[in-house]
Amino acid sequence: TWKMDAFVENSIRAIREKVGNGKVLCALSGGVDSSVAAVMLAKAVGDQLTCVFVDHGLLRKNEGDEVEEVFGPNGPYDLNFIRVNAQQRFYDKLAGVEEPEKKRKIIGEEFIRVFEEEAKKIGAVDFLVQGTIYPDVVESGLGGESAVIKSHHNVGGLPDYVDFKEIIEPLRDLFKDEVRKAGLELGIPEKLVYRQPFPGPGLGIRIIGEVTPEKVKMVQEADAIYREEIARAGLDRSIGQYFAALTNMRSVGVMGDERTYDYAIALRAVNTIDFMTAEAAELPWEVIGRVSNRIVNEVQHVNRVLYDCTGKPPATIEFE
Ligand code: XMP
Repeated sequence: TWKMDAFVENSIRAIREKVGNGKVLCALSGGVDSSVAAVMLAKAVGDQLTCVFVDHGLLRKNEGDEVEEVFGPNGPYDLNFIRVNAQQRFYDKLAGVEEPEKKRKIIGEEFIRVFEEEAKKIGAVDFLVQGTIYPDVVESGLGGESAVIKSHHNVGGLPDYVDFKEIIEPLRDLFKDEVRKAGLELGIPEKLVYRQPFPGPGLGIRIIGEVTPEKVKMVQEADAIYREEIARAGLDRSIGQYFAALTNMRSVGVMGDERTYDYAIALRAVNTIDFMTAEAAELPWEVIGRVSNRIVNEVQHVNRVLYDCTGKPPATIEFE
């Protein structure tokens, strides 16, 4: 185990040396990994860096605006931040698609198209930054013997969609907890550093089956309630990852005198060291009860809330 201050300092120095006067492009998702990578780059090469944030319409509630607040022109960093509002493009491409790997592929490819278009506007780029961390490398089958379980779109060799000389992956050797330490070392606000990990395809893989804007809203609202109550209970730092997912199951319920036939939200909470294995977190019943009450009362077309008790393996953390 190395000392994080030395790691950060050495990385910044190495990046500066490598980049020289070059132009650097970064895809910023607002997640911990790409945020830490972007700030590291900003500290190393200043305004030679441009960060592109693609809002694919599959972000958590208010997330696009929150990312813009921190990394945009009014925030504490100078990242040459560009936000692309591409929500509708993604919804159009996803219409009618149910198969998880197909959805992942569509989201990944559309992301690349949008990013590519932005990159073209920026012009010649020398380096591309990616927030790849060690578990990404291993799970994508690049670092070991394991088969590809899910095609994480943020890993996978050198992208050929932007003209650049070299890729920079400053977090490639780090586990998640180490990335967080690096983030704190870089002075990134704790609120951001301790954010929930969020997959590249976003809510697209937390909605089982077809993705529609209406379903995105449902899962956004349910997830926001869940996160709010977890924080209120003081549990937000002690759970590895937690989120709401929208199952594709509808079931019968009763509301007043009316029969309902609506969707079920699944609550997931896991504890994990490295996200390669995980166990279901034992949330206090009181918290689960409060969350499910609020969800069925506040989120339209949800009449049932389920708690996922499975570990990884055999389940994965995400639902698709
Ligand atoms: P799974 O579901 O494979 O998730 O047990 C392990 C960790 O990886 C995240 N995850 C992803 N991250 N792109 C990402 O950037 C993806 O396609 C993706 N799929 C899963 C997941 O949130 C968890 O932290």
